[in-house]
Amino acid sequence: MATHKLLCNLSFIFLLFFQFHFGTSEIRLNYYSETCPNAEEIIKEQVISLYNKHGNTAVSWIRTLFHDCMVKSCDASLLLESINGIQSEKISSRNMGMRNFKYINTIKDAVESACPLTVSCADIVALSARDGAVMLGGPCIEMKTGRKDSKESHLAEIDASLPNHNDSMMYVLARFQSIGIDVEGTVALLGAHSVGRVHCVNIVDRLYPTVDPTLDPNYAEYLKGRCPHPDPDPIAVEYARNDRDTPMILDNSYYKNLMNHKGLLTVDQELVSNPITSPFVEKMAADNDYFHEQFSKALLILSENNPLSEEEGEVRTDCRFVNKD
Ligand code: HEM
Ligand SMILES: *[C@@H]1O[C@H](CO)[C@@H](O)[C@H](O)[C@H]1NC(C)=O
Repeated sequence: MATHKLLCNLSFIFLLFFQFHFGTSEIRLNYYSETCPNAEEIIKEQVISLYNKHGNTAVSWIRTLFHDCMVKSCDASLLLESINGIQSEKISSRNMGMRNFKYINTIKDAVESACPLTVSCADIVALSARDGAVMLGGPCIEMKTGRKDSKESHLAEIDASLPNHNDSMMYVLARFQSIGIDVEGTVALLGAHSVGRVHCVNIVDRLYPTVDPTLDPNYAEYLKGRCPHPDPDPIAVEYARNDRDTPMILDNSYYKNLMNHKGLLTVDQELVSNPITSPFVEKMAADNDYFHEQFSKALLILSENNPLSEEEGEVRTDCRFVNKD
């Protein structure tokens, strides 16, 4: 993993030498090269120091990117609090279990003290996810910057945008296809479930009243131990690890687990039971580098979903609130 992180640094240096400049409202590599040259370094340092204190922050940043970018745009709308007519996206049941939002403010504060009012929260969401992936042993990804922050919440659009834990694979594939991510990319992105946790409310329908026959019986017993109540208190801290062996490593053991009938969510298990997705599961289970390659490609597409223009968006001073005029 040490060499891995070194390679990320080398590609960062490479970027410094090869800067490209396109139209100003477009996102591009090194958008902040003149306005805040250390922006990416500052964010990376914060992600590393937060990871060293609370390892699961790195996990959170990856899910935060998905839940922000899949809903309309990568525009940090997810970070807005309920105030002044805004209804926070955080209250949606699809965003249940999301954590560590307060540490996004820590990253933002560090960036603001170096470069006030320059770096968007949407870019912090994107860059922290890619830096978080590296901390978890995942791939290094060069990301464009220059996203703008939304001035509104998209709460009403969440249910139609973010798939549920028990949606059909055809529906899931169509959702990802709608933002330009193909079958292979969708299978790779779900590999994010190689890290983190799932609360019992999202699992119990596979355990009670009868155990889902596609589940490995021993694994089902383990899950019943983690989730002993058929009707868990949604706010109780009852959860299971996504990947028992390497829960903090973004690796292909997720796919190996799926092939051994140890998928946690219904959608996870569907990846291997559906003939359209299962060939990719097999390829990713067999080759971690291939998984990382496909994960990087798909995460980039996700992170570039529908960026707001300069006019549509702003750079928030505080990621939790729209700027006052
Ligand atoms: C069909 C698509 C997806 C569905 C239905 C889904 C659903 C879920 C659910 C229900 C949880 C558990 C939440 C909890 O109980 O606390 C979860 C966790 C997680 N998801 Fe997904 N997810 C999907 C795709 C993705 C993608 C594309 C990513 C990122 C690239 C992602 C990243 C994560 C991460 C990192 C966690 C663990 C969070 C933590 O431990 O705090 N998911 N997902
Ligand atoms: C999916 O799960 C939700 C609860 O999380 C439940 O309300 C819904 O009925 C389930 N849908 C299907 C098709 O089982």
